This record gives sequence, structure tokens and C-alpha cells, in this order.
Amino acid sequence: MYARIAGVGSFLPGQPVSNEDLVRRGVDTNDDWIITRTGIRARHLADEGCTSSYLGYEAAKRALDSADVEAADLDLIIVATSTPDFIFPSTACLIQEKLGNRGAMAFDIQAVCSGFVYALGVADKFIRSGSHRKALVIGAEVFSRILDWEDRATCVLFGDGAGAVVLEASERPGILATAAHADGSYNRILSVPGSVCGGKVIGDPFLRMDGQAVFKFAVKVLSEVATECCAIAEIASSKIDWLIPHQANIRIIESTAKKLGLVMDKVVVTVEKHGNTSAASIPLALDAAIQDGRLQRGQKIMLEGVGGGFTWGAVLAEY
Ligand code: UT7
Repeated sequence: MYARIAGVGSFLPGQPVSNEDLVRRGVDTNDDWIITRTGIRARHLADEGCTSSYLGYEAAKRALDSADVEAADLDLIIVATSTPDFIFPSTACLIQEKLGNRGAMAFDIQAVCSGFVYALGVADKFIRSGSHRKALVIGAEVFSRILDWEDRATCVLFGDGAGAVVLEASERPGILATAAHADGSYNRILSVPGSVCGGKVIGDPFLRMDGQAVFKFAVKVLSEVATECCAIAEIASSKIDWLIPHQANIRIIESTAKKLGLVMDKVVVTVEKHGNTSAASIPLALDAAIQDGRLQRGQKIMLEGVGGGFTWGAVLAEY
């Protein structure tokens, strides 16, 4: 029994916001720096009041349509997000209500930019065990809410959006291998080190990052975890049709592809249009490759992410 990708959908809020738009909004930056260092040309930013549950719901509807699955038939809903609507209830329960599903198991996963591959791995285990048959896995973020717009080293990097996948129990191949890891000793290099206590924000409610440390860590573990997944599935990395990595920085993506021996023609890149949308970036890129006709049924895809925690993981699947 496999967990097969039955449908994919995604959703981006509003119009693209270009690097020049950020300059016009008062950020002390320039188009050339952002493009050269990151590959980012634009991102989408949610209006005030637009939540992760709204973005996730819009992506979920599209994924359900493409899978031809009714929301009522889902028995598992997992949302990967670091920007939940509330402390509780989970964003998964809020999306469940919007979809009109009752009774499915629903919960959030917090693994920052690795959240979507963590969630796919968890859903895969539930389906393969036989306990669940139809899972909705969503990555949804409004990272713009946790950005310090005075910190030009971070605020230009991120964007908002959501992507979703419907997984179904199937005898036809789907997810072939998963791997996920964490090393909490790196928690300080990327964090939002604040909390709410007694009605006040304690600590710092904004994203803080040691960019160079994150860069080095990401390049190392992304190639390692993809190689680990290939070994589990006994597939050479040269057999991957599409590498769909977390979209943080074009230089991280290029160097990962090189280490895996993959030419950039086999890599799905959306970072230039979306920026880094954390847990949403992988399903957004997956959907982009389906929508433009590059990704075909039967092809092998490697999804992989790395993020705060530090966490990292990969999913090798036949689409
Ligand atoms: O999902 C995982 C999360 N994050 C990542 O994957 C990010 C990983 N890290 C990176 O992508 C890169 O480290 C960055 C893109 C964040 C930064 O690139 P860098 O080459 O490491 O630059 P830097 O931080 O060393 O900064 C170089 C210079 C500094 O100026 P000085 O001190 O050399 O004069 C910064 O002040 O660039 C300056 N700078 C900027 N200039 C214009 C930093 N941010 C900006 C900016 N616009 N937005």
C-alpha cells in the first residue's frame, strides 16, 4: 500500500510585491543586492486580516478539486505552519471547519521550513499503516506577520502563501521513501524568540537569523537527506526527474543540485516569484510544475526542506 499524490493545489494572496516596491515602502535595500544574493525578484504579502487558515483553505479546495475528492471523505488533515492563526485551536481544525469536514484527525506540525516534508512523512506513515485512507497535507504561512521591516537582512527574503496535497491509499506507487531529522542545538541561528505571557509579548516577536550559518547548514543537510532518501528507495539520484527543494535562496538550490549531480533543468525554482514562504514553498513549487506541464504522472520527484529548529527532511515520490 502506498500513499499516492491524488491532487495538488496552491494559493497566493494579492499581487506580487517587487524588490523595487519594497524600496518604495521604505526598506533600505536595492533590487540588485536581493537578486544577486538570493535570486528573489518578488513575493506575495497578505493583507492584514488574511490568515494562514484562509490561505490554506484556498489551497486545500484546489487540491481537493484536482484529486476529485470530497472534503467530507478526508480522514486526516495535517497543516504545517509556523504562523498559525491562534495559539490554539490548531490551524488544521480551523481549515477543517472551513472545508465542512467533521471527524477527521486534524493537527498542526511545527517544523518551520521543513514542516511540509515532515507532514507528508507523517501522513505517509498513517496511510501505509492502514489506519487512514485520505489525507490532506497543507503548508500555509503568513510570514510577513513575523518580519521586522527595519531588518533588511531578513524582511526582503520572505513571502506568504499556501500549498496543499491530497494523499490517497493506493496500490499504485506514490511516496517511495521519507527521511526527517532535527538538531535542536542549532535553535538560535533561526528563530522567533518571543512568547505571549500574561497578555504581553515576552522576548522578541520577530524573525531573527544568522544568515551565513543557516546558509552553510542548509547546503550540507539538503544534499545529505536527499541522498539518504534515494538510498532507502534504492534509486540513484540521477533517476530523479524533478528536484523540488525548499525555496529560500537560488544559491542554496544550485549548490544542492550540483552536489546531487542534477542539472538545473531538473530543478523546480519558484524563489524568484514567491520568495521564501517557509512551509508553503515546496507545495507551491510542486503545483507550479504541475500547472505549467513540466511534471507528468509517473515521474520521480524529490521534495526536500530545511528550516528552524534546526529541522530537515526529504520525500521521494512517484507522481
Ligand atoms: O528557510 C531557511 C531560511 N533562510 C535561508 O535559507 C537564508 C540563508 N542565508 C542566506 O540566504 C544569506 O546568508 C543571505 C541572503 C541572508 C545574506 O547573504 P550574505 O551573502 O550572507 O550577506 P551578509 O549577511 O553577509 O551581508 C552582506 C552585506 C552587509 O553589508 P556589509 O556589512 O558587507 O557592508 C549587509 O549589511 O549586505 C548587506 N545587506 C543588504 N544590503 C542591501 C544585508 N541585507 C541587505 C539588503 N539590501 N536587504
